[in-house]
Amino acid sequence: MTEFPKKLSAKLTERQTNNALRKLPVPNGLIDFSSNDYLGFAKNETIFKNASSILEKKGVIANGATGSRLLTGNDGLYGELEDLLASFFGSESALVFNSGYDANIGFFSAVPQRSDVVFYDELSHASIRDGIGMGLAQSYKFKHNRLKGLKGQIDRTRERKTDGDIYVVTESVFSMDGDTPDLKALVELCTSKGAYLVVDEAHAVGVFGKRGEGLLNDLGLQDKVFARIVTFGKAMGCHGAAILGSHTLKSYLVNFARSFIYTTGMPPHSLATILAACEHMSMSRGGQMQLRANIEFFKDQLRGYELEAYFIPSNSAVHCCLVEGNEKVKNWSLQLQDKGFDVKPIMSPTVPKGQERLRFCLHSFNTENEIKDVLLSLAQLFEKK
Ligand SMILES: Cc1ncc(COP(=O)(O)O)c(C=O)c1O
Repeated sequence: MTEFPKKLSAKLTERQTNNALRKLPVPNGLIDFSSNDYLGFAKNETIFKNASSILEKKGVIANGATGSRLLTGNDGLYGELEDLLASFFGSESALVFNSGYDANIGFFSAVPQRSDVVFYDELSHASIRDGIGMGLAQSYKFKHNRLKGLKGQIDRTRERKTDGDIYVVTESVFSMDGDTPDLKALVELCTSKGAYLVVDEAHAVGVFGKRGEGLLNDLGLQDKVFARIVTFGKAMGCHGAAILGSHTLKSYLVNFARSFIYTTGMPPHSLATILAACEHMSMSRGGQMQLRANIEFFKDQLRGYELEAYFIPSNSAVHCCLVEGNEKVKNWSLQLQDKGFDVKPIMSPTVPKGQERLRFCLHSFNTENEIKDVLLSLAQLFEKK
C-alpha cells in the first residue's frame, strides 16, 4: 500500500494528543440519550410498512434513482412528496435534497452573490458554514443569539455598502446547544433592514409546531422568512432534507445549487419513507406530546438534582451539560455508558475549547425512570468532581 502522507499522519497524531481523535462507534444497545430520533420514527413499524405499501401500490420496483434529478432521477414520487411537504410545512414550495448537508451547501454556495453579505450565528452548523465558504459573498459571524450586535453589524454594512443584498442565517434549535434565538425579534430586525432571513429547522421539526412543523410555524412566522431548511434524518427518522420557500427560489436552486444538480437523486424507497413519515407525523400527535412531557420532566429533574446551572437553557429535545476538557467529558460519558446510558461527549474542535459538553437528546420513548436515573448518575459525577 502507498505510504500515507506524513503531513496528514501528523494531523492525526495531533488529534490523538488532544484527546480529540474521532472514531466510528459500534452500536451499543444502551438507553438512547444520544440519537436524533426524537420521536422513535426510525424504528417505527407502521412507517416502515407504509413506505413499502406506497411503493407497492404504485408498482415501483426500483433500487436506485439512476441519475441526477435533472436527468433520469426525478422519480414521480418527488412531485407528490414536494407537494405534501409544501402543504405540511405551510410553504409555497419545497425542494428535496439528498441531505441537510447538501441542502445547506447548495443554498449558501448558490444564493448569496459576490456583492452580497451573509451574517451567520457563530454556532451555525458546519453545513451552513461550509456552504458560505463555497460561495462568493462576504460573510461575518455574529455572537450567538445576540441580535443587538447583529443589528449593529447590519447598520455598519448598509452605511459602507449601498449595493448588495444582506442574508442572515440562524438555526431555530441549535444542534450542539439546544437553545433558540428570539425568532420574532430576528424576523422584525430582518424585515426592518430589508435582509433575507434563512432558518435551519433541522432540530425543531417534530419537536415544535402543532403537528411538528417546526418552531417558525409554531410562532406563526413561517411566511416571514426567505427560506427554511428542514431535514428528515432527525425527528422524521429517515433521510434527506428540503428547502422551503417561493416557487422562484425553487427554480433558482434547481438551476444553480450544485449539490442538487451534480448528484444522483434519492432512491424511490427513501422518498416513500419520507412520505410515510410525514403522513405519520401529521396524523399522530401522541409521540410529540410524550416528547414534550419528557422535556418538561427532564427540566424538573434538573432542578430537583440542582444540576440546572451546569446546563445550557433549552426547551428543545437537546440538553447540554458543560463539562470542560476533552479528557474529562469523554471520561464522564464513558462512566454514564458503563451505567447503561448512551450519552455522547461533544468535544473540541466540534465545540470551542473550554465548552466541551455532554449532550443529552430526549425522546418520546425515554421513560421517566430512565430520565431520573441518568440525571442521578450525572449528579453523582458532579459530587465526585
Ligand atoms: C442544524 C443542522 N443542519 C443541517 C444538518 C445536516 O443534516 P443531515 O444530517 O440531513 O445532512 C444537521 C445535522 O446534524 C444539523 O444539525
